[in-house]
This record gives sequence, structure tokens and C-alpha cells, in this order.
Amino acid sequence: MKTRKYAHKILIPGACVLVQLLFVPESYSSRVKEFDRSGQLVVTEKTAAELQPTYNIKNRQSEKIFPVPRPPFSEGIFPCSQCHAGMKPNPQRRVLKDYHEDIVLHHAEGQRWCTDCHNLLNRDKLRLVSGELIDFEESYRLCGQCHGDKFRDWKVGIHGKRTGYWNGDKQYLLCVHCHNPHDPKFKPIKPLPPPQRPGAARH
Ligand code: HEC
Ligand code: HEC
Ligand code: HEC
Ligand code: HEC
Repeated sequence: MKTRKYAHKILIPGACVLVQLLFVPESYSSRVKEFDRSGQLVVTEKTAAELQPTYNIKNRQSEKIFPVPRPPFSEGIFPCSQCHAGMKPNPQRRVLKDYHEDIVLHHAEGQRWCTDCHNLLNRDKLRLVSGELIDFEESYRLCGQCHGDKFRDWKVGIHGKRTGYWNGDKQYLLCVHCHNPHDPKFKPIKPLPPPQRPGAARH
């Protein structure tokens, strides 16, 4: 058959292109001209991997670039599993009486309960709406689900507090270092009485 006869003419080059597509791009490299720290122009050979942008919004790993100090837990409360591993989880909305009596939810409490943020089965983890479990060191992602504008500002150092070098390593304070996750509104400061007029005591 005619097609049989000529098939190799298409298949062989086709296979070559496929092999190239699969393997070659990784070895592509390029010359990059840069100024080094002393201001000298240097030309370096960079591999394709090195030429990839280091920050990619679609890449979840990039959320981990925020180094934070230890979460502000009360003494001895963490790991939560020291008690909860042996307890039956109770998702009921209720007034807590046996423990955590100090926690009274005042944060959009009409729409949610503890277990919207705390994972019911593994209490050592927080829980995103997507069902993804995260560590307490990443609680900014939890807050960022609803406070996207503040999260955006926090990432670039406009909201919250960030310390370190302007062009180097930085440390971020977690949202919960400043805001109580259970009752985040800052209380208005009670005004002080007006100052006494000098001499008022004489009358
Ligand atoms: C908006 C999400 C959210 C809700 C709702 C929530 N929590 Fe939390 N909770 C957090 C975050 C975030 C932390 C971590 C604070 C930190 O890193 O120190 C935390 C910390 C805690 C801690 C440790 C407190 C401490 O003293 O260190 C306990 C206990 C706790 N939550 C219990 C509860 C209970 C009980 C409820 C329901 C009545 C609840 N949480 C509702 C987000 C939430
Ligand atoms: C010393 C023991 C202890 C530790 C540590 C502890 N809990 Fe609890 N927790 C309890 C008890 C007891 C209850 C039940 C309180 C009630 O029903 O009145 C409870 C209830 C809860 C509830 C309500 C839901 C449920 O299953 O009853 C949440 C949410 C919760 N704890 C979160 C946490 C988190 C988060 C931590 C760690 C940051 C933590 N707890 C650490 C003892 C503990
Ligand atoms: C499920 C959505 C949701 C998540 C998650 C959430 N919040 Fe909120 N937050 C709200 C809503 C809605 C309000 C306004 C209503 C209220 O204060 O009860 C609010 C109010 C606040 C306020 C007070 C704003 C004011 O008017 O003063 C602060 C601060 C805040 N949240 C911080 C946080 C922090 C920190 C976290 C993470 C621990 C967080 N929120 C997680 C929905 C959310
Ligand atoms: C260094 C402390 C600090 C950190 C860290 C911080 N905040 Fe705040 N936040 C504040 C202060 C102070 C205010 C009140 C003044 C203002 O509105 O800027 C505030 C206000 C807010 C408000 C209310 C704003 C309004 O419009 O009324 C929200 C919501 C909030 N913060 C969320 C967050 C979230 C989410 C994070 C983490 C991604 C965060 N904050 C981190 C200190 C902080």
C-alpha cells in the first residue's frame, strides 16, 4: 500500500521532534549579561531552570517564603493533640464550659464555628475552606481567605510588621501576633479624664 511505504518518512522525523520536545528544553541554556556587586559586567551561562522566574503565583510553594517567629500560643497549649488525641471531637456549636472558657467567638460568629478554622480530627492543624490543612506558622493563609486586601498589603510590607534587610531576608509577624483570631476588633481605648486645671484644688 502507498501509505505504508511512505509511513516511515513521517513517523521517523515525527518521533525525532517528539524526543526533542520531551528532553531537549531542559538543556536549553542562555547567556545572560549582568552587573555583579562591584559593578562589573559579567556574562554567565544559565540553564533553562535558572532562567525560570523564581516567583510564580500558580506555584503554591511560593506561599512558604514568609519566615515568621513562633506563633503566639499560651504556655503549654500546643500541641493541642496532647488532650484532643484522646477526646471525642465535638462539632456542636455551644458555650465551652470544661476548658477554653476564655475563648468566646466574636468574629463573624453568626456564620461560623471553631471547626471552620480548626481541623476537627487533627487539632494541631488549621483548615482552609478548600479542606487543605496548614500549620499554625501559616495562619496568614487562613486570614487571607477573607481579608485578601490586608493579606496582599501584608505580603509587601504595607500592613503589619516586617523586619530584616530591604533587599535580603525578612521576617514577618503573623496576623495573630497583633489580632486575636477569636475576637480581632481592637477595643476602643477608654478616654482618660480631662486634665485638672492648675489651681482648681484651691477652690
Ligand atoms: C477565624 C478562625 C478561627 C476560629 C473561628 C477559631 N479559631 Fe482558634 N485559633 C485560630 C488561630 C489562627 C489560632 C492560632 C493563634 C496562634 O498562632 O497563636 C487559634 C488559636 C486557638 C487556641 C490556642 C489559644 C492560645 O491560648 O494559645 C485555642 C485553644 C483555640 N484556638 C480554640 C478555638 C475554639 C474553642 C474556637 C471556637 C469557640 C476557635 N478556636 C475558633 C483561628 C480560629
Ligand atoms: C489541656 C487539654 C486541652 C488542650 C491542650 C487543648 N484543648 Fe481544646 N478542648 C479541651 C476540652 C476539655 C474541650 C471540651 C470543652 C467543652 O466541651 O466544654 C475542648 C474543646 C475544643 C474545641 C471545641 C470542639 C470540640 O471538639 O470539643 C476546639 C475547637 C478546641 N478545643 C481547640 C483546641 C486547639 C486548637 C488547641 C491547641 C491550640 C486545644 N484545643 C488544646 C481540652 C484541651
Ligand atoms: C471566613 C472568613 C474570615 C476569616 C477566615 C477571617 N476573617 Fe476576619 N473578619 C471576617 C468578617 C466577616 C469580619 C467582620 C465581622 C466581624 O467583625 O464579626 C471580620 C473582622 C475582622 C477584623 C476586624 C475588622 C474591624 O472592623 O475592626 C480583623 C482585624 C480580622 N477580621 C482579622 C482576621 C484574622 C487575623 C484572621 C485569621 C486568624 C481572620 N480575620 C480570618 C471574616 C473572616
Ligand atoms: C504588626 C501588627 C499587625 C499585623 C502583623 C497585622 N495587622 Fe491587621 N491591623 C493592625 C492595626 C494596628 C490595625 C488598625 C489600623 C489600621 O487599620 O491599619 C489593623 C487593622 C486590620 C483590619 C481592619 C482594617 C479596617 O479596614 O478596619 C483587618 C481586617 C486586619 N488588620 C487584618 C490583618 C490580617 C489578615 C493580617 C495578616 C495577613 C494582619 N492584619 C496583620 C496591626 C497588624
